[in-house]
Amino acid sequence: MALVPTMGALHEGHLSLIRAARVENDVVVVSAFVNPMQFGPREDLERYPRDLGRDRRLCEGAGVDLLFSPTAEEMYPRGFSTWVEVEGLTDGLCGRHRPGHFRGVCTVVTKLFNICSPDRAYFGEKDAQQLAVVARMVRDLDMRLAIVPCPTVREADGLAMSSRNARLTPEERAQAPSVYRALSAAKKLVETGERSVVAVRDAIRTVLAEADLGEIDYVEIVRADDMAQVSVVEGSCLIAVAVNFGGSGTRLIDNIRVSA
Ligand code: PAF
Repeated sequence: MALVPTMGALHEGHLSLIRAARVENDVVVVSAFVNPMQFGPREDLERYPRDLGRDRRLCEGAGVDLLFSPTAEEMYPRGFSTWVEVEGLTDGLCGRHRPGHFRGVCTVVTKLFNICSPDRAYFGEKDAQQLAVVARMVRDLDMRLAIVPCPTVREADGLAMSSRNARLTPEERAQAPSVYRALSAAKKLVETGERSVVAVRDAIRTVLAEADLGEIDYVEIVRADDMAQVSVVEGSCLIAVAVNFGGSGTRLIDNIRVSA
């Protein structure tokens, strides 16, 4: 049995996870739960897109066997006081910028695993740190399932699919592809021999400057296996970016893998 954990507002990225799950499992469960515990007090919990009717139709069309959409009260009854926390891997990137975020993710994902007992769970590589953190949690806590990573799905202009894209203003949406353009430029730079983190980050910032409606949250180069910052680009690395489009309050993240 497969679980595809989501926060709803399904898009083609989620559908690709569902399709991958469909070919490898007899039963596919999708969870759609906007998990309050992974949002900070100044984040977009209230504004996060929700459309359960549409999610249900998409799941039916994709051959999902069960759509699990619990309420916050069902997931977090009064007196709830148990948390799952992965250390180290959560220190940088989104972990640094969103304190408590991964504690909320790990706790809800553990609950979803316990509720659904899947053999496999499917996660997108767009949320690379989340994927690494969940895989580590599963290993460390001997959870009896496999985590299956799935490639990022992009719009024709390169923008990584995300439920949050729907909230961008038309002007922000026009600028948003510069995130992937910046990452692609960085990858090209590495492929042509650049090893300096400073130079690669500078190149990313130069491209991102085109998106003047966005404010850079971070531009980081980390080791792919443990998400630790590197001083030279070497081995398998992840170049990761987060940009905040303040007009609509939409934070976009994206990443690209490089091998040097
Ligand atoms: O990636 C997401 O949508 C969420 O973080 C997840 C894994 C469903 C947990 O709430």
